[in-house]
Amino acid sequence: MNFQSYSASRVALIEAAIGESLVQYQKTASLRFAPLVEAMSYSLSGGGKRFRPLLTLASAECLGFQAEDVLPAALAVEYIHTYSLIHDDLPALDDDDTRRGKPSNHKKFGEAVAILTGDALLTEAFGQLARLQESTLFSPKHILSAFELLVSAAGVRGLVGGQFIDVTLEQTQFNLPEVEFIHIHKTGAMIVASVLLPARLCGLEEKKSALLKRYGAALGLAFQISDDILDAESSNRYSRGPRKKARPAYSELMNRAEMQDLLNNLIDTANTCAQALGDKSSHLVDIAEFIRNRKH
Ligand code: IPE
Ligand code: IPE
Ligand code: MG
Ligand code: MG
Repeated sequence: MNFQSYSASRVALIEAAIGESLVQYQKTASLRFAPLVEAMSYSLSGGGKRFRPLLTLASAECLGFQAEDVLPAALAVEYIHTYSLIHDDLPALDDDDTRRGKPSNHKKFGEAVAILTGDALLTEAFGQLARLQESTLFSPKHILSAFELLVSAAGVRGLVGGQFIDVTLEQTQFNLPEVEFIHIHKTGAMIVASVLLPARLCGLEEKKSALLKRYGAALGLAFQISDDILDAESSNRYSRGPRKKARPAYSELMNRAEMQDLLNNLIDTANTCAQALGDKSSHLVDIAEFIRNRKH
């Protein structure tokens, strides 16, 4: 299967599962909460690339699972990603009025509802992960290990920590080590976790887990550099609206060719690690190649 059809079929699985999860909230939550579920749905269904959940499925398939087996874990990472974008766009953080070409959550529903929508998504992410218990494939010990991984990637040691430095760093302190530190935490940690969740769920041996982790770390940084390249070229900027604040980005510190070199090196590293995992890793390699060449 070529990458385009692979990714289309897996994204369809992810989106169907997201749709089902929203129906479940509508059914099981009080009718009075329907507007909150609508605000969750607005951001969850907003045209994201589904990059992180796709990685979870591709990593699971590399380890011999079916994509469907790990959908709750894939949903968990997409819920956390979505909450992080809603909070990131708030006036107190990046103050962005648009996201994916539409009004950002707080512009559509108001700041208070946007904060609560993010809170709901972050909390329910772990509710989705807990649904792995319904499968006979995973032991409670391994599910707990997956929880632990996601907590450290999303929390103070990962995404939230990275966001903290991102929003508090003075512009005079923008330099390569700082920018890299921010990206490893705010973006990279969740990308590593997306790749590693299936490894935790099967108690994968250390050597193979280390390869997946290095793949995820290289890809996470590469993803951010590719984002900065697109951003600098403004080709995808319109979908987020004009920036109101300077931000720590590679484009502040390197030219286009230097960014592309760094990106190529990281993608090569990611692919070397993926290939060492055997022939089922071809989708992981294709995803990395997609990031090398991505135009959106
Ligand atoms: C946007 O992430 C924020 C960054 C970490 C660069 P994505 O580019 O994955 O966002 P969507 O979900 O596809 O819109
Ligand atoms: C988005 O980061 C939020 C996280 C990575 C947690 P950015 O602020 O760098 O990305 P955009 O430009 O809003 O998508
Ligand atoms: Mg930000
Ligand atoms: Mg932002």
